[in-house]
Amino acid sequence: MKTTTNLTDPMDLAESLEALRTAALARIEGAPEMSALAEIEADTVGRESPIGEARRGLGRMPAEDRRDAGRLINSVAGEIEGAIAARREELAALERAAAIAAEGIDVTVDYVAPRVGRLHLIQQVIDEVCDIFIGLGYHIAEGPEAELAWYNFDALNTPPDHPGRLESDTMYLDYGDPADEMLLRAHTSPVQARYMEQHDPPVYIVAPGKTYRNDTVDATHLPVFYQIEGLAVDESITFSDLKGTLAEFARQFFGPTTRIRLRPHFFPFTEPSAELDVSCFNCDGGESTCRVCRGVGWLEMLGCGMVDPRVFEAVGYDPSAVTGFAFGMGVERLAMVRHGIDSIRHFIDNDVRFLEQFPG
Ligand code: PHE
Repeated sequence: MKTTTNLTDPMDLAESLEALRTAALARIEGAPEMSALAEIEADTVGRESPIGEARRGLGRMPAEDRRDAGRLINSVAGEIEGAIAARREELAALERAAAIAAEGIDVTVDYVAPRVGRLHLIQQVIDEVCDIFIGLGYHIAEGPEAELAWYNFDALNTPPDHPGRLESDTMYLDYGDPADEMLLRAHTSPVQARYMEQHDPPVYIVAPGKTYRNDTVDATHLPVFYQIEGLAVDESITFSDLKGTLAEFARQFFGPTTRIRLRPHFFPFTEPSAELDVSCFNCDGGESTCRVCRGVGWLEMLGCGMVDPRVFEAVGYDPSAVTGFAFGMGVERLAMVRHGIDSIRHFIDNDVRFLEQFPG
């Protein structure tokens, strides 16, 4: 076996080119990526490769051998270069396929639309009622949910011995010492007192907000619910203004043919006091089988009355200079009546199948 290869010898050249060819084709076939191919190319057909060397050796070859040797070199080099080009395409295709798989966009998968939220029905009703009163010239006022007993009761002519002040009716945060009794407000009426304390008449406000009572949950009661308070104070407000204002509100909220009636009632902070009923918008008072009013023809809606002079005194107004009316309505009640909702629990169940029925 020869230990040196003489590339200018045609026999040696043919033998070593064949060895190079076999080895190169095997390496090309097994090349795992583009960079490996570049390396093989330099090793086999590049300037410093055996092929390059063989080409340079041609000049030193006997003239009669040169032509065949040149053809042989070119044919081996061409075969290797062709194999490299083919493998390059193969690898490029594999890389593309891998990239597509990695991006993972499957256009046949169903498009799932994002769920868009909406205002809760209670908030919708609050907004609607406030808008109606803003249209009548009222402003929006607010007060704290953690309230002093003085505003929730005393300023509203509800003395310490009133049964409504018992621990069993009211959610107290601080109970016992009359000077700093604090509670979760039982109605939005304390906003009346707070507002009048801070503002001179005339006053035209509505005050929406959360209210709290020591009630057990049933179909018509929640311990946390919403009210909207109304207060109008001016130089010569009469009961007719109260009636006309609430009739206009009822028509805008329940429909233009709605009628109202006022039934005598009692509240400590209004005198006289009344409860307001609206004619049933479903049967207009005509059907004994109506599912909304159950044949009564009227729907109980809210409490109202003329502001008691004692309330004016408590907030520093002169009862001989001004008169006024006030009203308070339950927001859940308004929503239930208008939409025929059978249980107040639906408002806090967070069941989207219920909530989605009121897109607003
Ligand atoms: N605050 C009373 C209640 O919660 C409602 C009301 C408000 C009555 C204003 C008269 C005047 O029942």
